[in-house]
Amino acid sequence: MIHHYTLTEHQMNKLNSIKYPLLFWYDLNKRDLPWRSHIDEQYLDPYKVLVSEVMLQQTTVSVATKYFKNFIERWPNIELLATASEDEIITAWAGLGYYARARNLLKCAKIIVSDFQGIFPQDINLLKKLPGIGDYTSAAIMSIAFNQQSNAVDVNIERVISRLFALKSNNLLHNKKKIRDIVSQLTLGNRPGDVLQGLMDIGSLICSAKQYKCDICPLKTECIALGEDIVSQIPRKGRKITRGKKIGTLYLITREDGAYLLRKRPSKGLLGGTIEFPGTDWDDDEVIKNSYVQLDNIHCKELGIIKHAFSHFNLTVSVVGKIKFENKKDFMVPLNLDNCFWALPEEFCKYGFSSLMKKVIQFT
Ligand code: ADE
Repeated sequence: MIHHYTLTEHQMNKLNSIKYPLLFWYDLNKRDLPWRSHIDEQYLDPYKVLVSEVMLQQTTVSVATKYFKNFIERWPNIELLATASEDEIITAWAGLGYYARARNLLKCAKIIVSDFQGIFPQDINLLKKLPGIGDYTSAAIMSIAFNQQSNAVDVNIERVISRLFALKSNNLLHNKKKIRDIVSQLTLGNRPGDVLQGLMDIGSLICSAKQYKCDICPLKTECIALGEDIVSQIPRKGRKITRGKKIGTLYLITREDGAYLLRKRPSKGLLGGTIEFPGTDWDDDEVIKNSYVQLDNIHCKELGIIKHAFSHFNLTVSVVGKIKFENKKDFMVPLNLDNCFWALPEEFCKYGFSSLMKKVIQFT
């Protein structure tokens, strides 16, 4: 049961004047995206909706489209995905970030195949119990794949609704609740998935954060923010998160035949399961300084500095190389060689390098 206690009568009355022009516009202008293909007249493939929604939580539609096509070509349905190994999934995900999501997708596929005969449960509470499926993804699947009412709100929908209703409060939690209630009401009745995706497409094609094109918006007559000329001020922003800083060192270690030493990261945690050039732990300056080992700069030198932003911190790594590995016994770099292996540069393409490691490859 979805409640709508926060909506005023006036807001309730506005909903139909939004919904029908929105659907009309969507039918003519919707983006042709690969996860939008129907399995029959009524339904979209919930597997494709799941994969696309997980990818779209962390990247743009154009990047997600490329990864999505490759992913679906490799694993066209949930039964096949359930047979994949974690390494294969991580490799397919390489460069998308948030590798725990890829691992959860695999776990989720295995459970749907083993516990639900490969059929997605059409029940939001059962969906939410699956690994990696939270409030947003379960709601998106319910509406987009199963034509059910839901309150799925992504950043595009949030911006469009905030403007349509000119949500000015600085109480962002209150705004969020209101947006969810509005979306629940808009997805009542027919075509809930198209309502959501229509709002997403308007958010991306017309009602973008800075370059909004109100003159061509199908909802311009309904938009309170436009009427009040405050589109640029909405949505209200939360406090900016300040990311912490970490530093570390990566070593390019080579063997006589030109192979490089690589290492597989532990499957849990940041960049879990991806392949990296080995190095120190990443930590704040003080911790690193205390454990820093002076390298002999005849045999190796700093080749460059790479900066990379993770969701919670900015990383600066010094790339040191090229260190000749001659003998394990007198190997001078303080490295734990567990989980390390050798690979020639021409083999690199078969590993799941993260975006960070792709930046490091330029120094090899
Ligand atoms: N962003 C998140 N889900 C989306 C979808 N189904 N279509 C377009 N953009 C999206």
